[in-house]
Amino acid sequence: MPSSDSSPTVWQVETLHTHLEAGDSFFIFDVRNEDEYESWKIEGTVEIPMMNVPYYAMLESDEFDDVIDSFKAYLQQGTVEKLPREVPILAVCAKGDTSAFVAEALRRLGFPAFNLEGGTQAWGDHYHPRVITESEELAVYQIGRPARGCLSYVVASNGTAAIIDPLRHVEHYLELAQEKSLAYELILDTHAHADHISGGPTLAEKIGAPYFLHPYDGIHPIDVLPATIPYEYLRDGQTFQVGAHEMVTLHIPGHTLGNVAYLLDGKYLFTGDSIFIESIARPDLGGRGDTWAPIHHQSLRRLLELPDDTTVLPAHFSTLNESDDQGLFAAPLGTLRKKNGGLLEAQKSQQEFVEYILASLPKFPDEYIEIKRVNAGLAKVGESKASELELGKNICAVAQARDQANT
Ligand SMILES: [Fe+2]
Repeated sequence: MPSSDSSPTVWQVETLHTHLEAGDSFFIFDVRNEDEYESWKIEGTVEIPMMNVPYYAMLESDEFDDVIDSFKAYLQQGTVEKLPREVPILAVCAKGDTSAFVAEALRRLGFPAFNLEGGTQAWGDHYHPRVITESEELAVYQIGRPARGCLSYVVASNGTAAIIDPLRHVEHYLELAQEKSLAYELILDTHAHADHISGGPTLAEKIGAPYFLHPYDGIHPIDVLPATIPYEYLRDGQTFQVGAHEMVTLHIPGHTLGNVAYLLDGKYLFTGDSIFIESIARPDLGGRGDTWAPIHHQSLRRLLELPDDTTVLPAHFSTLNESDDQGLFAAPLGTLRKKNGGLLEAQKSQQEFVEYILASLPKFPDEYIEIKRVNAGLAKVGESKASELELGKNICAVAQARDQANT
């Protein structure tokens, strides 16, 4: 939407990400439907003041030919008094089209308003790579999808590379390979994901590299049907060479029966869904939290035996606050041993741990069963259905149950 002057009137999702991480002050004016707004909001490191007014509520009058005039008239009937004038207002809708008109209406009323280009859909699909370490001899990149709290990794050494837990939009990994002159030789999932569609099988097909999954996760836990996707079997203790470096597979059932972690050079621990920065993974997404919680306890105990200076690199986070001052989701195991609520429970008896888990389970999203079907090749979905299934933030950690219970 053109403005009367040449100053910028939009925020790209990268700009939004920067402001969210920095904890900058701004206000969100969200014009999506109420149910869309309630199911998923933009979150940052600090609470962002926001208001939801569905755009259709602002179009009730037939008096105006121009949609901006209609929005403006609506806003003047009691809304403008509730909006701040001293901080930017970000207008948000699902795709960024309607909110462009809303932002323009706000600007005409004298507010410093911007439109989120691409809307919540673009924010949900935003990926951001960060460097954990980088040299020709060894590079580790953390590729995050911040709106969903999903993290994936690329490990590279002397031009060859492995991808761990690739997310659905595989072009980001292909672009990174081009930019850094890398050839992917291995595609590894830590487990059959329930909260998002894996990019693993698609990448394997595109680049001809093998895709690895533990065979226990090749069975859909609810349907009890075997995966139809091509994959190589992972096993405990299996090693992979990435250039000059070795990665060991640790079978740590609990979140899923085929859950694994990968330990690179005895230093970097790709924990998948087991240990997160502030919490631990839930063990009930196979529908058997009661019987899987005890093996989750054993597996976490196994990981806790690793040295304190092991760097934990998880597959998820719950809030942007979990990142360090460089925006990385990474922490020494020795620190998490003392601070991570779930790991503190894991250091107690099995009975205490199981009681804690069973009292802390978040809601089981219905779509997680279907996402696992897609990841197993048992269901096929197009882009719009895939996007709908993945909508919102992951609910893979047990600690979120306590947050939800408190709200
Ligand atoms: Fe998971």
